[in-house]
Amino acid sequence: MSKKIIFSGIQPTNTPHLGNYLGALKNWVNMQDEYDCIYSVVDLHAITLRQEPAKLRAQTKETYAILMALGIDVEKTLLFVQSHNQHHAELAWTLSCYTQFGELSRMTQFKDKSAKNEENINAGLFTYPILQAADILLYQADLVPVGADQKQHLELSRDIAVRFNNAYSETFTLPEPYIPTSAAKVKSLTEPTKKMSKSDENPGASVGLLDSRDEVIRKFKRAVTDSDAEIVFDEGNVEKSGINNLLSIYSAVSGKSISDCEGEFAGKGYGDFKIAVGEAVADAFAPIQTEYERLIADKAYLEGCMKSAAEKSLRISGKTLRKVYKKIGFVQYQ
Ligand code: TRP
Repeated sequence: MSKKIIFSGIQPTNTPHLGNYLGALKNWVNMQDEYDCIYSVVDLHAITLRQEPAKLRAQTKETYAILMALGIDVEKTLLFVQSHNQHHAELAWTLSCYTQFGELSRMTQFKDKSAKNEENINAGLFTYPILQAADILLYQADLVPVGADQKQHLELSRDIAVRFNNAYSETFTLPEPYIPTSAAKVKSLTEPTKKMSKSDENPGASVGLLDSRDEVIRKFKRAVTDSDAEIVFDEGNVEKSGINNLLSIYSAVSGKSISDCEGEFAGKGYGDFKIAVGEAVADAFAPIQTEYERLIADKAYLEGCMKSAAEKSLRISGKTLRKVYKKIGFVQYQ
């Protein structure tokens, strides 16, 4: 039996952080054996917010190299840059004619983002979920690993697919959400009730995958905790959200259970605990950073990987797009 197809995307805006790693990217790596994985660095999505060209270019390469350094194996997994494949923009246009204005108006991420960017509420910000639907449907993905913030977009992708299939005939696979069993929900180090976010203005809130060892440890030393002194996990207790966060980070990077971690730190102070978590995270980052440095320095190799992935993605997505165009009634030539 053939493997199920997984599709996911990551925006090349800012360096991925510990929360992206433990919450999503670690699973991207783990899923590679069981599934046919297709991952995209979604630069077309990134321009819904204004990007500085040199920075976008650098961050796209950086994100690509980080994914490889984390263990995405480009021999078996398709890892491509979205703008290298024009079919995404083409199918997005087509699907926009099968998406209602009202449906897009209900997207909570659009409402949030437009409230935060009043000076640039562009049409792309509004039609963003259609591009996401195109990403997924072009590859006939069965499963899409998504966090809570992307669930609504995935439901819309399904609705669009169903509508198209009903209007013509079976064309798109209906994608299901894939909820990983063991993803850690990493919170901000400075406001541990909020999730760790790329766009947080406070640089101490998140640890980037490329932060130096000293930086990582310094940020953990300053992590917000509480005024007790006990290192125990107390699920759902807002007062303890700082300690809960640190314990789950430690557990995720060390591979130990939460109760083993509690045992290890029983009777110890918060100060020592925070340093130990920082060191464990820095230890986990070290081999990734070494591999990243090697890859990013090898421009020819990295570009070669991007090119062959682009070509492969074009072949797969081209099949779907041709089918779509034919069904719609666009004239084909050989
Ligand atoms: N919108 C997603 C995010 O911001 C990224 C993304 C783009 C994506 N296309 C996708 C995720 C397709 C899953 C499937 O995180």
